[in-house]
Amino acid sequence: MEKSRVLVVGGTGYLGRRIVKASLALGHPTYVLHRPEIGVDIDKLQMLLSFKEQGAHLVEGSFSDHRSLVEAVRKVDVVVCTISGVHIRSHHILLQLKLVDAIKEAGNVKRFLPSEFGTDPARMPHAIEPGRVTFDDKMVVRKAIEEAGIPFTYVSANCFAGYFVGGLCQPGHITPSRESVCILGDGNAKAIYVEESDIATYTIKTIDDPRTVNKTIYIRPPENILSQREVVALWEQLIGKELKKTTLSEEEFLAIIKGEEYAQQVGLGHYYHVCYEGCLANFKVADDEDTTKLYPEVNYVRVKDYLKRYL
Ligand SMILES: NC(=O)c1ccc[n+]([C@@H]2O[C@H](COP(=O)([O-])OP(=O)(O)OC[C@H]3O[C@@H](n4cnc5c(N)ncnc54)[C@H](OP(=O)(O)O)[C@@H]3O)[C@@H](O)[C@H]2O)c1
Repeated sequence: MEKSRVLVVGGTGYLGRRIVKASLALGHPTYVLHRPEIGVDIDKLQMLLSFKEQGAHLVEGSFSDHRSLVEAVRKVDVVVCTISGVHIRSHHILLQLKLVDAIKEAGNVKRFLPSEFGTDPARMPHAIEPGRVTFDDKMVVRKAIEEAGIPFTYVSANCFAGYFVGGLCQPGHITPSRESVCILGDGNAKAIYVEESDIATYTIKTIDDPRTVNKTIYIRPPENILSQREVVALWEQLIGKELKKTTLSEEEFLAIIKGEEYAQQVGLGHYYHVCYEGCLANFKVADDEDTTKLYPEVNYVRVKDYLKRYL
């Protein structure tokens, strides 16, 4: 079967660059949106040129130029959007409504994967303010996609390993200490950690798969479903030393959130649901919604191996 042509929107981003790489590696003719707004951002331009060297096609297009978006999506079969959605970096989830309009008008796109790649927003109607904005905005985009009748796949990627494993599940930390760790609550709520290149590989695997059309797909590598205490224990084994542990109760955590700036509050709200409530692993998914069952050939990175990079 001929592989679908893929347009990556947000291809220079943290996840997006890995999506471009995975799309090329899995043999898809790959197109990357090049926005004129990047101006003289030399890093982004060099990255785009390196994609071109690796065989990708660069397509000019802007979110403020509808026609350019329509022309860009007309070149491909599948659109994967990885536009920013982390407040401490930047958050532009609702800009995707313009992309939905363009895809609707172009009429040729067989699959659209919007920028999701985290907690399944449909399972978060109870999320706390202000962090719920991420889920609410992603649901607005879902509604527009479904109303436009665009075939979709929503990828729930759980925790990016870089943020969560690197920091031993502590907000504000992205490298593991060799001395101490703060345990959130009892530290026993399970979460799910996925190496970012694995997220990209699983994502690209879904795009030509008829089993994943119009569904939410969950990336749940079984050996990476771990509590904070289990992640900490793996790190302690690697460094051959026990960390000094303090704990933070749910009430203390919620009180801390209130005193923070907006962007921090949003991020902390997500940690609250993941680490105290266990929102990622407290429900079952069917085999045909689980990437590790759908694509058992992918040899995903285990948390214990991921942690070795910090030694
Ligand atoms: N589960 C988790 O732990 C986790 C962690 C982080 C992120 N996520 C999710 O993953 C997705 C991608 O996040 P990310 O951190 O990879 O994003 P990012 O690196 O912050 O940004 C990705 C891209 O968004 C585009 N962008 C940013 N501002 C824009 C603007 N004003 N107009 C148009 N495009 C703009 C840029 O693309 P170009 O310049 O290339 O056009 C940028 O490279 C989001 O949905 C986010 O919520 C999940």
